[in-house]
Amino acid sequence: MYSVLFVCLGNICRSPLAEGAFRDEVAKRKLPIITDSAGTAAYHTDNPPDPRAIATAKRNGVNIGSLRARQVKPADFKRFTHIVAMDTDNLANLKRVQPQDSTARLSLMMDWAKGREGASVEDPYYGDEDGFAVTWADVVEASKGLANHLAHKPD
Ligand code: 4NP
Repeated sequence: MYSVLFVCLGNICRSPLAEGAFRDEVAKRKLPIITDSAGTAAYHTDNPPDPRAIATAKRNGVNIGSLRARQVKPADFKRFTHIVAMDTDNLANLKRVQPQDSTARLSLMMDWAKGREGASVEDPYYGDEDGFAVTWADVVEASKGLANHLAHKPD
């Protein structure tokens, strides 16, 4: 059984959107995959997602309003089969805190979108609302690729 943890910096913009998009994708396909999200930083612990992220998900039929931010912890590296970072800084920070007995497979979110491997999901926090629509499109595209991978090509 697979379990996927999506990780960004604050856990209030990109990773909750990724969690929502991926949950929607696995529900449509009836895949038994556990999902969660977390931040490499603890600034927003226990806060709900950014209102602009909640509104963007809602416009696309996905409710992320009940999610609460938390920081990545060492146990996550054993509890989840896959940990998916939103950008290259988050991935580098994950590798820095990855325990020796970690079993999770680490990747970048856009590695799961054909032709966009190695790219980052840009941080929309300091921009305007349009940035959140771009984030949503990116995480939906990558979620489809990841769900496809986990459904058809288990490794
Ligand atoms: P996220 O966006 O990493 O996509 O959740 C950010 C949220 C908060 C901050 C930075 C990025 N911040 O500096 O507080």
